[in-house]
Amino acid sequence: MKILVTGGLGYIGSHTVVELQNEGFDVVIVDNLSNSEISVLDRIEAITGKKPAFENCDVCNTEALRNCFETHGKIDAVIHFAAYKAVGESVENSLNYYKNNVGGMISLLEVMKTCGTEHLVFSSSCTVYGQPDVLPVTELSPLKKAESPYGNTKAMCEDIIRDAIISYKSFSANLLRYFNPIGAHPSALIGELPKGIPNNLLPFVTQTAVGLRKELSVFGDDYNTPDGSCIRDYIYVVDLAKAHVCALKRMINIAQNGNCEVFNVGTGNGVSVLEILNEFMKANGVNVPYKIVGRRSGDIEKVWADTTKVNEVLGWKAQTPFIEVLQSAWRWEKKIRG
Ligand code: UD1
Repeated sequence: MKILVTGGLGYIGSHTVVELQNEGFDVVIVDNLSNSEISVLDRIEAITGKKPAFENCDVCNTEALRNCFETHGKIDAVIHFAAYKAVGESVENSLNYYKNNVGGMISLLEVMKTCGTEHLVFSSSCTVYGQPDVLPVTELSPLKKAESPYGNTKAMCEDIIRDAIISYKSFSANLLRYFNPIGAHPSALIGELPKGIPNNLLPFVTQTAVGLRKELSVFGDDYNTPDGSCIRDYIYVVDLAKAHVCALKRMINIAQNGNCEVFNVGTGNGVSVLEILNEFMKANGVNVPYKIVGRRSGDIEKVWADTTKVNEVLGWKAQTPFIEVLQSAWRWEKKIRG
């Protein structure tokens, strides 16, 4: 069974390729290296014993993408990660985000259609729920207007996939709405590689712990939460990667043409910024200097997943203890600073 993974050298993509190869799938990675390193290919080989096929290609380039499909014979399914993901950057450079994320989605669906590939797993985000009125958030919770062009591209891509399935009834898709992915592979061979100053919490924490940043700014301690800092559902990237394999197997094994299913992929537990910070220091025996500063614009107060559907329908559950997740992040940071 051959799976084409767009963005397969990126953070979540590379962990998913590892899990796919561990489960015996043949993988073709399509990645334009805009936010990833080619060395990840060798690292995937070091972990799994097998080097995946690789095409340096931009998914927005429809003809080049079609060539990738044709070169590798019948592609049974696609997992689509390739997209820009920085919320702030998307506000400053919105057209780039629409062009890349929405344009890439359309290009991919066109090629899938002409090449006869019918199954798609899409990398979506809990950002589509905005600040939910009721917690935990289920897949049936109302979608809110996106706070950023980035969030909007996720909602738009979901709509485009739904419409494509209506038009081409042999298609099927799983939309995985990730909560906050964190951590690194236990081997410390692959992990998150943020360029420049990290926007996301955990890379900032690990870079502060290793001495690369002076202190962490905690954005707000006056929210309506037990300790005043924001709450998120932090999901271990390896557990998240495994959810893709479950989604894929279900789509391929159960004839589901014309189906579009949505799953929340989280742990079901809300953790605050201050909690994760303290847990990180305790788990790793390191100090992370921090100060409380004002709220970050666009941040939502709290969100965590209702995971009933993903647990029952996909048979997937987040399994890794939080302490191990935080240790994996620290091991990775120390390794890359060598
Ligand atoms: C956001 C998006 C999410 C997207 C992700 C990718 C929303 C609601 N969420 O996640 O969809 O996939 O970015 O980049 O749009 N924090 C600090 N100090 C820091 C960094 C973060 O206190 O230096 C706090 C934030 O205020 C937040 C929490 O840590 O409360 C998590 O922040 P972050 O890792 O950036 O993720 P989200 O904003 O939840």
